[in-house]
This record gives sequence, C-alpha cells and structure tokens, in this order.
Amino acid sequence: MAIQAILFLFSGLCAQFLGGHATLPEYPSQALPLSAFFNNKAATAKGDPSSLADFDGNGNAYDSQFLPTGSWEYDGLTFALPSSWAKNDDNVLANCQVLRLQKPTFVHELHFLYAADGNGAPSVSVFSLNFADNSSQQVDLVAKNWWVLVFATPINFRRLDLLYKRPYHFEGKGKNLNATNIHEWSTSVPSESPLESITFPPSATSNRMHVFGLSITPSTTDTTNGPALAVRRARFTTRWDDIDGVRAQAVEVTLANLLPSFTMSPNTSITNTHTVELVGPGIQTVSPGVINRLVPADQARVDVFVTGSRVNGTAVVQIRDSAGIVVATSGEWKTSPLIDNWTPDADVLGMHETPAWWNAAKYGIFIHWGVYSTPAWAPPTSYAEWYDWDIRHPPNSSNPTWVHHLETYGKDVIYDDFIPDFTASKFNASAWVDLFDRAGAKYFVLVTKHLDGFALFDTGNTTNRNSVQLGPKRDLVAELLQTAKAEKPEIHRGTYYSMPEWQVLLSFSPDYAKYGFGLWPGGLAHNAFNVSPALEPYTGRLNISDYLEDLQLPQMVDLAVTYDTEIMWCDIGGPNKTLDFAATFYNHAMAQGRQVTMNDRCGFLPDFDTPEYATFGSIQTAKWESSEGIDPFSYGLNTATNASQYKNGTTIIQTLVDIVSKNGNFLLDIGPTAEGEIIAPMIENLLDAGTWLDFAGECVYDTEYWFPGSEDPNPPPGTTAPRFTTTPTTFCVVAFSQPEGGKVTVNKRLPVMAGDEIVFLRPGGPSTPLNWTVDEPTGRLVIDVSESDVRAVDYAWAFQVLYKLE
Ligand SMILES: *[C@@H]1O[C@H](CO)[C@@H](O)[C@H](O)[C@H]1NC(C)=O
Ligand SMILES: *[C@@H]1O[C@H](CO)[C@@H](O)[C@H](O)[C@H]1NC(C)=O
Ligand SMILES: *[C@@H]1O[C@H](CO)[C@@H](O)[C@H](O)[C@H]1NC(C)=O
Ligand SMILES: *[C@@H]1O[C@H](CO)[C@@H](O)[C@H](O)[C@H]1NC(C)=O
Ligand SMILES: *[C@@H]1O[C@H](CO)[C@@H](O)[C@H](O)[C@H]1NC(C)=O
Ligand SMILES: *[C@@H]1O[C@H](CO)[C@@H](O)[C@H](O)[C@H]1NC(C)=O
Ligand SMILES: *[C@@H]1O[C@H](CO)[C@@H](O)[C@H](O)[C@H]1NC(C)=O
Ligand SMILES: *[C@@H]1O[C@H](CO)[C@@H](O)[C@H](O)[C@H]1NC(C)=O
Ligand SMILES: *[C@@H]1O[C@H](CO)[C@@H](O)[C@H](O)[C@H]1NC(C)=O
Ligand SMILES: *[C@@H]1O[C@H](CO)[C@@H](O)[C@H](O)[C@H]1NC(C)=O
Ligand SMILES: *[C@@H]1O[C@H](CO)[C@@H](O)[C@H](O)[C@H]1NC(C)=O
Ligand SMILES: *[C@@H]1O[C@H](CO)[C@@H](O)[C@H](O)[C@H]1NC(C)=O
Repeated sequence: MAIQAILFLFSGLCAQFLGGHATLPEYPSQALPLSAFFNNKAATAKGDPSSLADFDGNGNAYDSQFLPTGSWEYDGLTFALPSSWAKNDDNVLANCQVLRLQKPTFVHELHFLYAADGNGAPSVSVFSLNFADNSSQQVDLVAKNWWVLVFATPINFRRLDLLYKRPYHFEGKGKNLNATNIHEWSTSVPSESPLESITFPPSATSNRMHVFGLSITPSTTDTTNGPALAVRRARFTTRWDDIDGVRAQAVEVTLANLLPSFTMSPNTSITNTHTVELVGPGIQTVSPGVINRLVPADQARVDVFVTGSRVNGTAVVQIRDSAGIVVATSGEWKTSPLIDNWTPDADVLGMHETPAWWNAAKYGIFIHWGVYSTPAWAPPTSYAEWYDWDIRHPPNSSNPTWVHHLETYGKDVIYDDFIPDFTASKFNASAWVDLFDRAGAKYFVLVTKHLDGFALFDTGNTTNRNSVQLGPKRDLVAELLQTAKAEKPEIHRGTYYSMPEWQVLLSFSPDYAKYGFGLWPGGLAHNAFNVSPALEPYTGRLNISDYLEDLQLPQMVDLAVTYDTEIMWCDIGGPNKTLDFAATFYNHAMAQGRQVTMNDRCGFLPDFDTPEYATFGSIQTAKWESSEGIDPFSYGLNTATNASQYKNGTTIIQTLVDIVSKNGNFLLDIGPTAEGEIIAPMIENLLDAGTWLDFAGECVYDTEYWFPGSEDPNPPPGTTAPRFTTTPTTFCVVAFSQPEGGKVTVNKRLPVMAGDEIVFLRPGGPSTPLNWTVDEPTGRLVIDVSESDVRAVDYAWAFQVLYKLE
C-alpha cells in the first residue's frame, strides 16, 4: 500500500505528455455506505449468548472479536466496515437490492469484500452494473465460501492476515476449526457512461452471497494533463530472473490510467515506449519494465527487475518517457527482499507464487494413467479413475459400476487383480512428449499416484505398491520426465500426487486410518461382493508407522528432489506435511536456478486455484488453472464414452482462449490405455488444436488478460463473443464465430489507434495488414477480412493488432 507521498524533485526537464514531471496520486478508493441494506448478522460475541448470530442459515457465525471495524484498509483500498459487530445486522445478504450511487459517477474499478456461506465449490454470483445511458453489464463474481473443507483451500486466506490467523468460526455455541475468511474481489467497470447503480444477485437457497464492503475507484475526468496515471500496486514478489548473472527480483508494478474510456485519444494515452523503474535506498533497477501503450480505463502490469530491496524499506516507482526523461514518480511503496532460504513457516512460504514460465505457458496436458486404466470404465458423469470407489458405493445392483464389474469380471475379481494387466507394454515416452509438443502444450502433469495408492515411481521403503515392484516393473515417472527433459527441455514437467489414499473419501489404506476424519474414518476396503475375506488386501503395503512421516512426505520430497518435478499438483488436501515439503521443494529448485510451483490442493500454501471441469465467467486476478478431460466427464480413459463426444479442435481452442482471456491456464487431460497408448481420436483432436496454435499461438502464449474485460459484452445476435488478450506490443481479438460478410465487429472500445496494423493469423503466416475503422462515438471496431482467409481457418479467428511504436 502506498505510504503518504513524499515529494521527489527532479531536474525540470520538459516531458512530452505531462508537460513536466508529475508526482502521481495514490490509487483512489471510496467506500460505499451499505448499512441501509444490512439484513444479516454475521458475528457472535464470544461468551455473550444474547449475541448469537446466524450467518449461514445453519446457526454458524464469525467470532466478532477478530473482525476489523470502521474504516479499514486492505491492498491500498478503503472499505467501511460496521463500527461494531455482534449487536445488529452487519452485512448484506444478496436479494436483488439496488444500490444507487449518490450521483452517477464514472468508475474505474469496483471492489468487494464478501463471503459465500455454502459448503461446496465456489459458485457464481452475478452483479449488474447499471449506467446512466441505460445500458447495463453483468459481472460474475466467482464466490468462495467462508470456510472450505477439502478441495480448494480458501484462496484469499493469506491476503487477509487479520482473519486467517484465527481459523475458526462458531458452530452454534461450539467451534468449527475450519479456515474462516472474508474474501476480496475486484472488477473493472465500463466507463463509456457514468455508473448509476449496482444490482445485487437474487437470493439463493445455498451458497448465499454476503457483501461486507464495497468500494469504488472513481475515474478522473480531467483530461487536460494527458493520461491520469496512478500506481495501483507495486509488489515485491518472490519471483526472480537471472539478468547478466545477477539474481534479480521481479517487482510487479501495475499502472492505471484513470480516465474514462470514452476520452481515448493519443493525448490521453501512453502511445510510445515508456520504462518503469524502482528508486529507493539500496535499490537498483537492473531491468526496467516497458509500457508501450496505456489507454484510458486500462491498467498495465509489468515486471521491473531489481536488486537490493530489504525488509520494510521503501521505494518509489519512476516512469521515463521514450526520450529517457522522468515524467512521473509515485509515492512510497514498502519493499521486501527476495527469499534466499525457504523455511517451513507459513508466513514465508505463503508469499510464494507461480513462476513467470507457468504464467506464460497457458496450456498443459494432464495424464491420468494407472491401474484404473485397466477396467477403464465409468457410467456417464462419473470419473473412470474412481473405479475402485465406485464398485462398492453402493455394493448392489442399483450401482452401474457394480453391475458392470460383476458382468465383465465376476465377483471374484478384486481391484488389485487389475494390477498385472496394467502393463505399460506399449508406453513410449518419446512419442508422448512429441505429441504434447505438436499439440502446442507447454507443460504436462502426470498422475504419479492416484487415490488408489498405486504409484508410478520408485517409492523406496515407503511402499511396494508401485509400478517398479508390480505391474509394468518400470519407473514410468522417471521415463517420462527424463525423456522430456532430454528431448523437449522447453516443455515443463509436473506431477499430480494424491495426498490421501482413498480413505479421506473411503478408508482403504490402513495406514491412513489414524488420519481419517468426519465421514471418512480410514481402514481397509470392504469387498463389494461380500466374498471371504470381506476386507481386501492392500497389495505392496509395507509396515510403516506413520502415513504422513513415512509415506506421504518422503514420496513428495522424492518427486521434488529425485525426479525434479516443476509442478507439484496435489489432490484432495487433508492431513499433510506441506510446510516441510514446500520448503524442501522450493530450496532444491532454487539451488538449481529453477522456479517451481504448487497448486491449492496440498492442504496449504497455494500458488494457484484449480477449478475442475469448470471455468470462470469473468477475469479472476488470482492465478488459476482449469482442468478437464478431453472426455466430457472423465480424466481416466472411459471406454464407455463414444470418441465422437471428445473435445474437438473447436472446443479445445475456444476453451483455452476463453480461460486465457480471464487470467487462467488450461490443463487438458488425456487417459492412456493400460498398455500406455494414447488412442487415435485423442491424438487427432490434440493435433487439430496444435495446428491452430501453430499459427495463432501469439494470441495465447505469454499474453495477459486485458483489464477492461475478457470479451465483447455485446456481440451481434447469434454469435459468440470474441475474446481479448494482450502483450506489451500487441492486442488480440479472437473471434469464436466465423466472421461473415468479410467483416469482424467488436462493440467495445479497444486500445487500437491510428497507425496500428491489424493482421489475421492464418496458416502459412499472418495476412497483410487489413483495413479497419473505429466508429465514434461508440468506439466500435470493424475489421475487413477476406472471406477466403476466413475459410482457411477453423476453430477460432485471431486478429492481432500490432501497435505503432514511435
Ligand atoms: C433511460 O431510461 C429512462 C426511463 O426509461 C428514460 O427516461 C431516459 O431518457 C433514458 N435515458 C437514456 C440516456 O436513454
Ligand atoms: C469443518 O467443518 C465440517 C462441517 O461442518 C465439520 O464436520 C468438521 O469437523 C470441521 N473441521 C474441523 C477441524 O473443525
Ligand atoms: C491532442 O492535443 C493536440 C495538441 O494539444 C490538439 O491539437 C488535439 O486537438 C488534441 N486531440 C484530442 C483528440 O484531444
Ligand atoms: C517491519 O514492519 C512491521 C510492521 O509494519 C514490523 O512488525 C516488523 O517487525 C518490521 N520488520 C523489520 C525486520 O523491521
Ligand atoms: C443399494 O444400496 C443403497 C445404499 O445402501 C440403497 O439405498 C439402495 O436401496 C440399494 N438398492 C438395491 C437395489 O438394493
Ligand atoms: C518411440 O517414439 C519415437 C517418437 O515417435 C519413435 O521415433 C520411436 O521409434 C519409438 N520407439 C519405439 C520403440 O517404438
Ligand atoms: C510392524 O511394525 C510394528 C512396529 O513398528 C511392529 O510392532 C509390528 O510387529 C510390525 N508388523 C509386521 C507385520 O511386521
Ligand atoms: C526409509 O529409509 C530412510 C532413509 O534410508 C529412513 O530414514 C527411513 O526411516 C526409512 N523409513 C522407514 C519407514 O523405514
Ligand atoms: C495441512 O496441515 C496443516 C498443519 O501442518 C493444517 O493446519 C492444515 O489444516 C492441513 N490442511 C488440511 C486441508 O487439512
Ligand atoms: C458414436 O457416435 C457416432 C457419431 O455420432 C454414432 O454414429 C455412433 O452410433 C455412436 N456410437 C455409439 C456406440 O453410441
Ligand atoms: C466440436 O464439438 C462441438 C461441441 O460438441 C460441436 O458443437 C461442434 O460441431 C464440433 N465441431 C466439429 C467440427 O465437429
Ligand atoms: C483497403 O481499402 C482500400 C481503399 O478502400 C482498398 O483499396 C484496399 O483494397 C483495401 N485493402 C484490403 C486488404 O482490403
């Protein structure tokens, strides 16, 4: 957050657009008063029975003593919270309320403090922004619940320190020790017209939306000084780059142009190369950030590489124009140094974040391969890799998997009898890696041990339940990762690892029993057909005394240290030694000059969120990665699925581009056979998508989301909205409906200016520059494109704006 600006004096050289040097204002925010709408009480006062609140409709509530009161700052934003809790209603339970602004106001960004009160996955709450010109726009807030059980640890927990240090809430008069949060979410607001009101979502019966605070960042309407710049944030990250042999820290600087979008002109924009540096005691900028264009209502994020930052130091952001003259300086930002040694400490590890390569990669291949690839069967809308669970839940004829098993294999065949048929006899690591490359993927994540506890690597003295001792008698993880490293080093290598072995959900692995909880007490699996013995063996198990100490942690550490994984993609979460693991993982990689990452299912410390068979409706600024099978509802191979149902080139490309336009990555899953073959229709569809990425990948890889919006809010009727992505030198419009009549229309003002060239990305190289126009006053962009070019492309039509750089 910005500390009060101090005045920096620079020699009075004249600057181009600002007419001199400017001290930038703090990024503004104004809390909107909500108390008139309060209709729910979230907090109970400890020891005061008369204060009992019912936040979630089930008698549960926050503990009032840990909630901040009054005017409250978070991430540089001001919110107005109740002056006291546990007395009166203190939050707004959404029910179509219409909140009118005191007067219509041009708004740059809108900020929410909220929590949903459901039990499951995040759910979408749709707010409507209503403007003076009678237009309105919906924004999807992907609402996280206030507490989370197993999947999806609370993403924002580390960003609201005040709250996460007290991870509990009241359950009636007792306590529930799950994490308990209030989350923050921000969205850009269109500014062609002033914002008049905000309509809350309708009431819901579950996953109800509670709003604790709203704050707006108003636009600046005075255009006389050129672009209205303000530093949204200067964040000293844990990412680094080797710059001329120096380990330099990335400082992520976000610069806003607070003017409303309709004022866009060269006079109100940055239109040529500006550089961004950090200046402060001891700090040296070794590689500045570069901004070539920043139009009204937009924000630009750049990495500035520095050395010498220290704990609690200060630095200012300095912007130079294309002539190298300092044109603007921000107030002070707090510095924090790069981490040289990761300690098993949540406050330190919690600062870790996804590396630049992961942010740029966008597209990965997920591989679900294991003993479940032998039966390879599930009824519609079930995961085939869950076969071991599915045959016994319930163990009777109402269960299609139970019936399938009985009919196909008979009652005497148990799950572990499938191990010898998991042969990997046709597995060719080179062929797999070659396919991922031709598919256009920049990383892969191999399942190394699923919930059935069968590992595809050498698990040493932790268990013999693995592919080295049993089944193929090969170290499949080593084969794939080593081959990839040798043959396609630019493709990053990741490992899925299930933290529990079924019994967080069932109770198969006897070693997990002591960690079982709630509905899942742990223990050996019951035979689904009641044959004697009723409890099934757990083939390969060794006599270890503690699952976490003797199996989970050493296996994870091995994947990090022996197998050099770059992505630890955990599943399920639950009991864990992730603090110890993460410290080892990060230190090992750092010692080799590598940067690695971990998802949000390791029980702790997520770098990124992982929606499953789900994507988000709006830009989510916290890093996320959506995973889905190429099969419409299975990760493991499901022979009951008709290959015609697989995601085809169109679905893969449009899903990928949609996700990327909203700041996510796409992890597309395939399920090889027990022999290690990837079946032909999966290969064909992957390669189809790869063909498109081959000529249009510049609109996907190494791009960023565009702050003012991921897509056209008003596409022509009957068409799918084109998606937007950006780079420092380009802007992309990716149409999802085939352009008709030789024209593409975008009903939103884009950062396109006279002198820019627009080309169509097509096989054999980009088209020659196309004719285009921008209509005023709407800002609508119309691009002319030849119909034969359009017909030469399938799946999606990518138009790349090349900024004119002076
Ligand atoms: C918006 O709608 C109101 C009520 O229907 C109408 O009075 C007003 O003229 C409209 N404003 C614009 C800018 O169209
Ligand atoms: C988390 O919440 C669930 C559901 O209310 C409850 O069953 C469980 O015991 C809680 N966990 C802890 C550690 O309190
Ligand atoms: C931009 O500034 C120039 C020089 O001050 C002026 O002539 C021109 O009209 C301005 N353009 C716009 C669109 O405001
Ligand atoms: C940094 O500042 C925080 C408060 O802002 C303080 O708690 C902490 O002790 C300081 N650390 C050092 C190393 O000065
Ligand atoms: C199968 O088991 C489930 C769960 O115990 C039960 O609800 C269902 O009635 C049973 N169905 C049959 C056909 O036995
Ligand atoms: C494995 O795949 C590679 C690449 O496709 C191919 O060159 C090689 O011949 C294959 N090896 C075997 C044993 O089939
Ligand atoms: C397993 O180890 C425990 C002690 O760690 C020992 O008491 C027990 O006899 C061992 N069981 C077997 C089957 O080796
Ligand atoms: C496995 O081997 C390691 C290193 O040799 C040792 O530290 C560990 O105690 C062993 N684990 C078990 C369960 O025997
Ligand atoms: C992971 O382990 C930590 C303790 O090391 C615990 O606080 C946390 O709740 C665990 N995560 C889950 C999801 O159980
Ligand atoms: C699979 O899909 C194709 C094409 O839609 C169809 O012709 C075929 O009958 C389907 N097969 C099965 C087994 O459903
Ligand atoms: C691709 O799949 C989508 C969704 O199932 C379908 O609508 C579309 O027609 C398919 N495209 C082709 C070329 O088969
Ligand atoms: C662009 O417009 C000009 C003038 O109307 C025309 O001559 C030219 O052919 C057009 N170019 C393309 C690529 O359509």
